[in-house]
Amino acid sequence: MSWKSFPKVELHLHLEGAADPAFIRELAVEKSVDTRKIFDKSGAYKYDSFNEFLAVYEAATLALKSPEDFKRLTQSVLENLAEHNVVYAETFVSPDFCGGRDVGAWREYLEAMQEAHVEGVTLKGIVTCIRHFGPDKARETARCAVETAGDWIVGFGMGGAEDVGAAGDFSRAFDMAREAGLRLTSHAGEWGGAQSIWDTLEDLKVERIGHGVQAIDDSKLVDYLAETGIVLEVNPGSNIALGVYANLAQHPIVKLRDAGVKVTVSTDDPPFFHTTMTKEFERLEQVFGWGVDDFKLLNETALEAAFCDAGTKDLIAKRLEIV
Ligand code: ADE
Ligand code: ZN
Repeated sequence: MSWKSFPKVELHLHLEGAADPAFIRELAVEKSVDTRKIFDKSGAYKYDSFNEFLAVYEAATLALKSPEDFKRLTQSVLENLAEHNVVYAETFVSPDFCGGRDVGAWREYLEAMQEAHVEGVTLKGIVTCIRHFGPDKARETARCAVETAGDWIVGFGMGGAEDVGAAGDFSRAFDMAREAGLRLTSHAGEWGGAQSIWDTLEDLKVERIGHGVQAIDDSKLVDYLAETGIVLEVNPGSNIALGVYANLAQHPIVKLRDAGVKVTVSTDDPPFFHTTMTKEFERLEQVFGWGVDDFKLLNETALEAAFCDAGTKDLIAKRLEIV
C-alpha cells in the first residue's frame, strides 16, 4: 500500500542535503557556480563513494549564498515534507554554510529560514558541526548554536567523515552546547564500528545517535542502548545508497528493534539517495512486512525523542492521533 498519507515524524534530515538537484542547478546558474562535478547527465547528484558524496554535498552548498537562498530552500523542504505527510521534522543546519560561522551572519540566515512556512508541518533546527572540518571550527559552530538556542534551535550535533579525528576532540563543543540547554545527537556507527559509538556516548554524552547501525556487531553495546534508551536515527535508504549495506534485507534495523533498541526512521539527504519518507515506509513494508502498528511505534519513539518543548509535542501528538 502507499504510506504517503500516513502521518510521520522525521528526526534526521540535513537541510542542505534535502535540496532538490533542480533547485541547486537553478541557483548555480543564477550565480555562475560550476556544477559539472555535482550532477550526472540525468541531472541527479553524482557520487561513487561516501567521500565523493561529502565532496559533492559541499560543492552543491556553494550555490546557496544568501539568507534568501536558505529561505527558499527551507520553503521547498517544508513543501516536500508536507507532500509525504511528515508533520514534524528536525533538520540539521550548519553555520559553516551560512556565513562561515560568523554569529551575526548566522542570525540572519536563521531568521530567513524561519520565515518559511507550510501549514501543518513543524520544523525545528539542530546546529551541526562537521567532523572533518576539525574541532576549532566545531567550537565556532557551537558558539553560533549557544547564541541562538531557543524555540527553533533545539539541539546540537555533528555530521561529516566519521573516520577523521576522535569523538573526544569535539567534547568542548558539545559541552558548550549542553551548558546552553541544547539537546545532543551525533553521527556515529554509520561507517565507524561499535567503538565509534561507545566513544561518542562517553565523550560527547549525546542522547541520540545518527545512524548507529554498526552497534549490531557488539552485543554489549546493543544491550547498553536498549537499557539506557539511547535513540538511533536510522536511515535505511541512505545506508543502501551509500553502500553500507547491499540491500534492505541485510540491514540491521529489525534486529536492533527486536533487541529492544529504540529506532526511528529518516531520509538523511533524500534527493541524494532517491528516497522519501513514503518510500522508506514502503520498503520496510515490502521487505520486513511492517504495518500500521510498526509505523505507529516509529512515530511514538520519534516524538518521545524529539528535542522540541512539551507544548509542541502535544500538538504533534494530536496530528499523529496518538493522544
Ligand atoms: N552529512 C550529510 N549526510 C551525511 C551522512 N550520511 N553521514 C555523515 N555526514 C553527513
Ligand atoms: Zn546524516
